[in-house]
Amino acid sequence: MKLFLDTANLREIEEVASWGILDGVTTNPTLCSRENLPFEKLVREICRLVPGPVSVECVSTRAEEIVSEARKLSGLAPNIAVKIPVNLEGLKATRILSAEGIKVNMTLVFSPSQALLAARAGAAFVSPFIGRLDDISHHGMELVEQILTIYENYNFVTEVIVASVRHPGHVVEAALLGAHIATVPYSVMEKLVKHPMTDIGIDRFLQDWKKVTDK
Ligand code: E4P
Repeated sequence: MKLFLDTANLREIEEVASWGILDGVTTNPTLCSRENLPFEKLVREICRLVPGPVSVECVSTRAEEIVSEARKLSGLAPNIAVKIPVNLEGLKATRILSAEGIKVNMTLVFSPSQALLAARAGAAFVSPFIGRLDDISHHGMELVEQILTIYENYNFVTEVIVASVRHPGHVVEAALLGAHIATVPYSVMEKLVKHPMTDIGIDRFLQDWKKVTDK
């Protein structure tokens, strides 16, 4: 499973890129609003730091406007994927943009039927929002399972990005289901590697190493 970082923060991206496990980045308007840089400069910087796809969201609401906004965004760097919310206007725009070779990440996906239509429209990625479903007492991961089954049934090449990830368990469940990608906030990314038994083990080995003679 590929790992994307769900952030627009340059320091977080630089840090995780240095771990050697970063495959891409997803941003959204909320994440961009937290950063103190002009939007286009921020996007260019993110794209420079990340070798893989960087999702940047369109905020237009009508198909024609989404298409022109997406064309403009995709011109900012070669690794941009435009994020488009999955509604009728978004689907129309996705069909046009994907035919032009622009990668679309259909976002705010909350049902398997939305994911089916996104794939039919040619989206390169779909982003089911797992945590937000869990928040309203649904089981978000069931949605991921349903989407993966539908995509396998018809050999769709659209990749499933498990989004709105809240904790390491979400990442593990996504990997067990065979999701293509999980997009993970920095705080969760850090937790993926941590285990108290590992820290205790390292400490003990270092203490014992001091007792070894003739090193
Ligand atoms: C994904 O592409 C979104 O940016 C993100 O995962 C949304 O997560 P949230 O529900 O924590 O805002």
